[in-house]
Amino acid sequence: MGDLSLLSPMLELRETSLEILANTDVQAKVSQLYHLFDEYQHQHIALNLSASLDAQELILPGRPLKPELVPPLQAPKRRMTTVEGRAILLHSLAHIEFNAINLALDAIWRFPNMPDQYYEDWLKVAKEESYHFTIVNEHIRSFGFTYGDFPAHNSLWEMVERTKDAVIARMALVPRTMEARGLDAVPMIRDRFKQIKELTAVDILEIILRDEVGHVAIGNHWFNFLCAKEGLSPISAYRDLARKYCAPKLRGPFNLEARRQAGFSEEELSLLGV
Ligand SMILES: [Fe+2]
Ligand SMILES: [Fe+2]
Repeated sequence: MGDLSLLSPMLELRETSLEILANTDVQAKVSQLYHLFDEYQHQHIALNLSASLDAQELILPGRPLKPELVPPLQAPKRRMTTVEGRAILLHSLAHIEFNAINLALDAIWRFPNMPDQYYEDWLKVAKEESYHFTIVNEHIRSFGFTYGDFPAHNSLWEMVERTKDAVIARMALVPRTMEARGLDAVPMIRDRFKQIKELTAVDILEIILRDEVGHVAIGNHWFNFLCAKEGLSPISAYRDLARKYCAPKLRGPFNLEARRQAGFSEEELSLLGV
């Protein structure tokens, strides 16, 4: 009997990313994504740069019924002194990682006509976010809870939604604004776990910090690429986009070393919080 897989049409990266983004089952989303990443590395997945895809009736992102989404101020308090408080803190991180999987998939399917490397970069981000989600959720489970057990706020995804009309706005405001805030916040959370000698959480946060520098660097690379292509100055383009799309005002303390590693220029660093 012949190999039937030879007869089936090759899957396409951007279409498949949209399908995975719409999947409401967290575990299925993560495992499909790992599979997509591996198949792409083995050149079993096509890449159509120019297709303008349409989400049609899909609800994006696909997400489970829980967690319940609430405004940021109604999100539950994260007290380090109780197991539940620590689980709530890690749960808020798990929700960010879940939305980070979704934002990387969204960057792949939504924006056509970028170079191959753009799609490959975001596929790598999506895989790393799946890993972050998985290790954070495994740790929450060791406390007797799981993803969905606490309410969560959705500011990261709201910025993804707001910037769906322009890839330059997406790069400016999602990786190099929202994810870059993670570079400032993660070391502080890590140190709180270090103080109580919760070393598994410390290790997880170190992995996240290391990888997030790379994600922000990818955002910087493609933002600068788009600015150069359109003859814009990155500084003034960012200022205009931040105003137009109502970016949150950045507040320190800033992790200048990580931001520098992620490719922000000295001029950009000097303007932080201004
Ligand atoms: Fe992450
Ligand atoms: Fe990330």
